[in-house]
Amino acid sequence: MPVTLLTSKEASSLPVYTVAADGLDACNAPKQAITWARANGFSGAAGTVLIVPGEAGAVAGAFLGLGTSDAANPLCAGALARHLPEGDWHFAEAPKEAELAVLGLMLGAYSFTRYGKKPRNTLRFAAPEGVDAARVERLAGGSFLARDLINTPAGDMGPDALEVATRELASEHGATLTVTAGEDLLKENLPMIHAVGRAAEVAPRLLDLRWGRDDAPKVTLVGKGVCFDTGGLDLKPAAGMLLMKKDMGGAANVLGLASMLMAAKIDIRLRVLIPAVENAVAGNAFRPGDVLTSRKGLTVEIGNTDAEGRLVLADAMALADEEEPELLIDMATLTGAARVALGPDVPPFYTDDEALAAALAQASQAVADPLWRMPLWKPYLSRLDSKIADINNVSLDGFAGSPIAGLFLGRFVEKAKSWAHFDIYGWNPADKPHAPVGGEAQGIRAIERMLAERYGGAS
Ligand code: BES
Ligand code: MN
Ligand code: ZN
Repeated sequence: MPVTLLTSKEASSLPVYTVAADGLDACNAPKQAITWARANGFSGAAGTVLIVPGEAGAVAGAFLGLGTSDAANPLCAGALARHLPEGDWHFAEAPKEAELAVLGLMLGAYSFTRYGKKPRNTLRFAAPEGVDAARVERLAGGSFLARDLINTPAGDMGPDALEVATRELASEHGATLTVTAGEDLLKENLPMIHAVGRAAEVAPRLLDLRWGRDDAPKVTLVGKGVCFDTGGLDLKPAAGMLLMKKDMGGAANVLGLASMLMAAKIDIRLRVLIPAVENAVAGNAFRPGDVLTSRKGLTVEIGNTDAEGRLVLADAMALADEEEPELLIDMATLTGAARVALGPDVPPFYTDDEALAAALAQASQAVADPLWRMPLWKPYLSRLDSKIADINNVSLDGFAGSPIAGLFLGRFVEKAKSWAHFDIYGWNPADKPHAPVGGEAQGIRAIERMLAERYGGAS
């Protein structure tokens, strides 16, 4: 990682002075540094950094703006990772939410270097007292895994490469991975995963990772692994297809989450299910109007081949449901409608479990990982009625696209004691101090916090 966290401060370490908006008067920096900040018009706006010069052109320190208290986001310390010269640094005074600030710094240091772009400056940063550096590293590591997987183009992150990445994660943590691929999907009764993925050059598959002691509470994560979504025969237009390498964002996020949970040794029996497919166009592609029989036995009329995510998830979730997990969580870049509702930065989640909803909302606040609950509005289920099958995969108009997709998935969950669905975007379209443009981890730090509080572990 470009930022190494130190538990104690090096002698040569340079100070970062944190400043609230218009807070230079209250800042404990040396007088001449404050004069320099004033002369440069530094006002403490969130995510601004000003380098302070020392003698003979050396660097003496830096200011970091934290902004106004209501808009304050401690993750904006990520700006430091972009602006500080290489070397040893520390906070002159720990900011209020010091651990989130250090996490922001780590997250802001990310860059995607696989295709030759230069990494950011390497920094060594002394974590303030009370900051759990190991936890910060686990959370950043899981987020980076999700970002890397999403950023990698479909040509290098097909269902086969996603399997390799999952295998690597499994072996790092002593987890087991079982893979069902190609025609075997039919043998194992996973017909919708096969139907969606069969037109692609790289065979569709279900990845099944297991970790943890057998008698611990069963927590199962399911992630949409559509490695590229052309829309199928209901082909997407160019603009809509451009970013569809990110349609495995749900898979990337549950893998990032699994990495956090396993590294923290949370005491659960973890299972991760990823239907990994490419929604491609070929003579053997599934068609609009086809009727698929799902693993669960429900027949599904295909109103639109571009609503493919819910089909592959449905079989994976039916499988997950069979062993009656205590908690079933699915994450998916499922609908454009979720973005229309809440924009790219606030993923909606759906659950009928009030206690879980409250715990998620609280954790989301605590770790500055935005989430917002939306309703599984049961009367809308009838919008998925089909004339010839048990259910259609789409409704006729665009109303409530994200809730209705959630309701569709709910038809395949029966025995799980609790279930939550996350309709994420998986992409950061505008640069932020802690998040460069590109693939993004969304909601998984909040989910990690909720699970750590529930089940305990190192976190
Ligand atoms: N992967 C898309 C959803 C998506 C699109 C997420 C753009 C984020 C950005 C999904 O498979 C899809 O195409 N959904 C359709 C559903 C529709 C056909 C009912 C959509 O949202 O348009
Ligand atoms: Mn689609
Ligand atoms: Zn999709």
